[in-house]
Amino acid sequence: KQRVLSGVQPTGNYHLGNYLGAIRNWVEGQSEYENYLFVADLHAITVPHDPKQLAADTYTLAALYLACGLDLNHSTIFVQSHVSAHSELTWLLNCITPLNWLQDMIQFKEKAVKQGENVSAGLLDYPVLMAADILLYQADKVPVGEDQKQHLELTRDIAARLNHQFGKPDQPVLKLPDPLIRKEGARVMSLADGTRKMSKSDPSELSRISLLDSPEQIQYKIKRCKTDPIRGLTFDDPARPECNNLLTLYTLLSGKRKEDVAVECQDMGWGQFKPLLTDTIIESLKPIQEKYQAVTADKSYLESVLRDGGEKARAIANQTLSQVKAALGYSLPL
Ligand code: AQP
Repeated sequence: KQRVLSGVQPTGNYHLGNYLGAIRNWVEGQSEYENYLFVADLHAITVPHDPKQLAADTYTLAALYLACGLDLNHSTIFVQSHVSAHSELTWLLNCITPLNWLQDMIQFKEKAVKQGENVSAGLLDYPVLMAADILLYQADKVPVGEDQKQHLELTRDIAARLNHQFGKPDQPVLKLPDPLIRKEGARVMSLADGTRKMSKSDPSELSRISLLDSPEQIQYKIKRCKTDPIRGLTFDDPARPECNNLLTLYTLLSGKRKEDVAVECQDMGWGQFKPLLTDTIIESLKPIQEKYQAVTADKSYLESVLRDGGEKARAIANQTLSQVKAALGYSLPL
């Protein structure tokens, strides 16, 4: 089986975008691949963070992975900081990565502008850590959204550079990963502005549906979400981004076909559509929330999942790290 690697940062407020754009896709494809899915807690500190929250957010996210349907027969779930090879390989890769490759990354430029003077070297280095995450597991495929394509290209460039400088032509040190592009490139937009993506860091709670929102919260947020005064709902009208987003959410969560939803909703007003969407979201999240309660009720179970996952991940990661160190000339015995 081909190996897939992916992760989400434990920065709280896990929302429908994280589910529909990432976690649900992992679940749907999981039996086809050998999956390594981690909680990216080293990435989480590239922007200012609260140390009091980090462990709790990590725990919640790992529990959500299981609650959303990841199956331990197909997927290894672990915490990034439990595998020290991620940090160590990052250093080695740093030393062969040209600085200007990192300065050209769009996400760095965008996040750096938001943070003004507080930009850390870690934020610039984020894509190298991501390269280490992927290359350590010799992953064949990495599920990527539009926003991560450039980083995956960089991962390939770094691996190719290391192979070229330190490998033998017939014996590459690192495997070059390919993107795993899903047929439905779900990009869930903010409930407050259909042109911006739904995001964990948006200061407004009303901009997102969190996976652990109660039915009352969901109802309130959908009631308050931005719409337009036009009657009849349509997909793909650039003048109606909110309408497109809400219809897309309904389509993705109801499991109906886009063409069918287009017909079903073509004559509806918001007063009719909003309760339908509300019920669909509540029903979709119910089994996830129930499983989440069950998983978190037994702390020792989740801890054992992460302990076992970490052990499995370390075995593979340490092997790759040794190969890279040997190629770079670290050959003295300990
Ligand atoms: N709105 C979204 N629609 C579809 N997919 C999304 N993802 C995030 N937002 C949406 C996907 O979720 C995964 C986890 O992302 P991450 O934790 O690395 O952080 P992010 O991409 O920066 O996500 P957020 O939630 O928007 O966080 P902030 O607010 O910190 O920027 C990724 O696969 C991502 O594509």
